[in-house]
Amino acid sequence: MSETPQKRLFIKTYGCQMNVYDSERMADVLRPLGYGVVDEPEGADLVVLNTCHIREKATEKVYSELGYIKQMKDRKAEAGGRMTIAVAGCVAQAEGKEIMNRQKAVDLVVGPQAYHQLPELIARAHRATGERLAADFAADEKFDALPAERHVTGVTAFLTVQEGCDKFCTFCVVPYTRGGEWSRPVNDIVEEAKRLADQGVREVTLLGQNVNAYDGDGSTLAKLVRQLAKIDGLDRIRYTTSHPRDMGDDLIEAHGELPELMPYLHLPVQAGSDKILKAMNRDHTAESYVKLIEKIRAARPDIAMSGDFIVGFPGERDGDFEKTLELVREVGFASAFSFKYSRRPGTPASAMPGQVDEAVKAERLERLNQLLDEQQRAFNASQVGKVLPVLFEKAGRHPGQIVGRSPYLQAVHAEGGEQLIGTIVPVHIESAAKMSLAGRLEPVLETA
Ligand code: SAH
Ligand code: SF4
Ligand code: F3S
Repeated sequence: MSETPQKRLFIKTYGCQMNVYDSERMADVLRPLGYGVVDEPEGADLVVLNTCHIREKATEKVYSELGYIKQMKDRKAEAGGRMTIAVAGCVAQAEGKEIMNRQKAVDLVVGPQAYHQLPELIARAHRATGERLAADFAADEKFDALPAERHVTGVTAFLTVQEGCDKFCTFCVVPYTRGGEWSRPVNDIVEEAKRLADQGVREVTLLGQNVNAYDGDGSTLAKLVRQLAKIDGLDRIRYTTSHPRDMGDDLIEAHGELPELMPYLHLPVQAGSDKILKAMNRDHTAESYVKLIEKIRAARPDIAMSGDFIVGFPGERDGDFEKTLELVREVGFASAFSFKYSRRPGTPASAMPGQVDEAVKAERLERLNQLLDEQQRAFNASQVGKVLPVLFEKAGRHPGQIVGRSPYLQAVHAEGGEQLIGTIVPVHIESAAKMSLAGRLEPVLETA
């Protein structure tokens, strides 16, 4: 029997977890065509850059990466081979054909809702005929056309349940790159989750740009989570990213009731000044955010809070920034992501007066990060001496070490055999650093 020669596929993923999911699905679409994923772009038959448009730096990185890839393409051509270069993701959606004009080595451009068209686009690129740009917004077609089978290797997996955004925060490109809010049907998600569980996945993270706005078949995210919690073998459920305005009471209740729903919530607030929040079009105030957290903590007192912050939004004065620090002190975050405001073409905030000096942004970011780092360390330190259930995911860097996650999404290292990977084991936490915990396995009592 002769094997089909494997074509080498290299995918580089930038940006958010939605892109991580999409990259896996692109590999699934291409697998039947003989493409196998490789770790290095050199010599690959197909290189896909799955890009992010969220900040200027993210976008610029793509063009410099394309410069390197072009050299590899030239080397391969000199050796008589062919490398096809595809740009996918949010830069593809936002800049479309301009990408092919700016970097001639690019063969095709495919937006986030058109990955199922990849085989066709590649064929056209090879024939050098027809349209090589696919960037429409029909998310339902994409999911219907993707193969049901997913190729997963780990014990955790992402599962996209919702895409797009109708919120139009004035700084953000996502509503333009991902289109309007759209939810997948409940049954499709349940089926996908069951198949994942059958393949050994113990934890799923439900993904959406506004995941808690999920309303597939008139359901809510809470109802969906309750259904998924019933699936045998699926022991842990997470979801991200949520918007404060969609944090429904039934979801908060579910946090108090469902042991499968992990006590970790990423709920971006962006800023602590009501003036800035209003200019951002966030539709919440600092006070309403704090009240919301109180309500969530009443349902699930140990919940670990995570957030996103932007410093230096147009019009942000020192006093406004101080309010962000105040809010951080009041809430207490277990982890967080903070960014300098980046002016994105076409967004309302990019044309607002009062753009903030880069040096001021840098200084504010440093102060905010210092406070957030302290809180993260304190949160991790508060786990020392406790016994946490850890889902082990992989071997650690040192021999005999395994690594997993606590319910609060902290990485946990312990000495243990690889047979524990894929199991949830009680771990006595002995030490904590900024990014991880270390502990020893609790002795399991043998019963005769
Ligand atoms: N849908 C999610 C995440 C959107 S993008 C949400 O609403 O929270 C992730 C984060 O990037 C945002 O939460 C925001 O903090 C940051 N971000 C978005 N646009 C930005 C910009 N123009 N400049 C700096 N940070 C930005
Ligand atoms: Fe962007 Fe706001 Fe939508 Fe989040 S809610 S994706 S920050 S517009
Ligand atoms: Fe970036 Fe698009 Fe995600 S802009 S953050 S990859 S939705």
